[in-house]
Amino acid sequence: METATREPVYYVTTPIYYVNDVPHIGHAYTTVAADVVARYRRLRGRRVFFLTGTDEHGVKIEKTARERGLAPQELVDEVVERFRGLWKILNISNDDFIRTTEERHRRAVLALYEAVKQHGDIYLGTYEDWYCIPCETFWTEGQLVNGACPECGRPAERVKEESYFFRLSAFQERLLEHIERHPEFIRPEAKRNEILSFIREGLRDLSISRTSFSWGIAVRDDPRHVIYVWFDALINYITAAGYPDDAERFAAVWPADIHLIGKDILRFHTVFWPAFLMSAGLPLPRTVFAHGWWTVDGEKMSKSRGNVVDPAAVAAEYGVDPFRYFLLREVPFGLDGDFSREAMKNRLNSELANDLGNLFSRSVSMLKKYRGAVVPAPDRGDPRWREFAGLAAEVNDAVAAGMEELAFSRVLGEIRRLAAAGNKFIDTQAPWQLAKDEGRAADLDQVLYCSLENLRLAALHLHPFMPEKTAAMAAQLGLPELFTASGTEAYRWGGLPAGTKVTPGPALFPRIET
Ligand code: MSP
Repeated sequence: METATREPVYYVTTPIYYVNDVPHIGHAYTTVAADVVARYRRLRGRRVFFLTGTDEHGVKIEKTARERGLAPQELVDEVVERFRGLWKILNISNDDFIRTTEERHRRAVLALYEAVKQHGDIYLGTYEDWYCIPCETFWTEGQLVNGACPECGRPAERVKEESYFFRLSAFQERLLEHIERHPEFIRPEAKRNEILSFIREGLRDLSISRTSFSWGIAVRDDPRHVIYVWFDALINYITAAGYPDDAERFAAVWPADIHLIGKDILRFHTVFWPAFLMSAGLPLPRTVFAHGWWTVDGEKMSKSRGNVVDPAAVAAEYGVDPFRYFLLREVPFGLDGDFSREAMKNRLNSELANDLGNLFSRSVSMLKKYRGAVVPAPDRGDPRWREFAGLAAEVNDAVAAGMEELAFSRVLGEIRRLAAAGNKFIDTQAPWQLAKDEGRAADLDQVLYCSLENLRLAALHLHPFMPEKTAAMAAQLGLPELFTASGTEAYRWGGLPAGTKVTPGPALFPRIET
């Protein structure tokens, strides 16, 4: 325990979501991915701090509230519950939930603003540019596409106002140097190159305050100004780590090990955010990982198309864990992908119902039938034993390596090797034949043991992805403590104790019929 508490905390974050709208599959994607990372690290014995939350300030929220005849605070208090409720449904194990309207966050934003100002990086100027309200993003004339926002295609507005500026231009060289020296800072690689060329084109100073709306954190010594929503929002990551009041906690938790984000907000996280931190003299996050976007049935997801996918509805229809599995299995993390019910049905039926689910129920019921549901003692010298032990070690290494890269789909593919080997093993060893021959009792013991031990490891590896289904597997296997024995020992082949009593239960992954 001593050493465990001194070990640094593994800190993983999601973006904080805007509460002007209800959660959709894009929000669920990042949050489920972060949950898998957090659960994986905990299972391997790390202390973890997993943060998610909501971004509640800005003109967009002010505007939505006005349209609905609500005060901004009323709107955000209502919508935040939709997010909280969804994370409960999806079994998200976040350790904290931050809202930018909280007092602890106001204190952090003002403290960081002050630190940046003390460093000489804030000055008063006049802001004149194009602004896209839906994206909360400023654009230069040259960046607009036919007068519209290059991100979302909606018309941009010309704005001119007094504003405080952050001296972003002064950080160009330091940012380049940091990104070049730390290849792990921006991932995947293609995104890193994109950001490097963006910075090399030259950085303009960044307007970080507004006088045109009031729903936000006021600048302390000039309260006509409200702090720009992105300067406000990014700071959430240090607020929740204890900045500025709890120095001890902050030292233990910050910097973040990984910020998980969507590709659209990469620039904010890899140019603006590190520059703010550098200015304030704070350490930078180790890695920012940008994932791709989901389309739905081949089309961009949007309210106007009416094809926005409600994650709670999908989870209700297909089950929470199968949905989590699909999200991370279907598309290599970092690339764009397409969501469709057809793809989901195919994937879940072939990989979960047919391969894993069938293998599990076959193995458990054979043990019941042939050995009264009690795990027999194996023969640790047998070639079949060595073969399984070798596969288990290979899969374990591949999972560990894949998780370092957040290659979730590949990791799930590796775990499938266990199910494939288990199915093939039962087919070739034909335990139903062995059972007919008294003289082959030891053989049958070996086949039953190896099949169940293989499934124990599959459950362990799958646990971060499907916490409830794997808990059901562990319960049927008679191993309710499987996931509490953290560390690396549990992953070694041969850990299933002889004498364990299994309890066959309902099918884990029933087939989805249309
Ligand atoms: N509030 C900001 C983030 C501030 S973080 C300091 C924000 N919020 S958001 O609610 O608009 O978006 C949150 C995340 O959802 C982004 O990472 C974005 O990439 C992701 N997605 C939105 N639509 C998506 C898809 N269609 N597919 C995958 N992810 C998508 O931006």
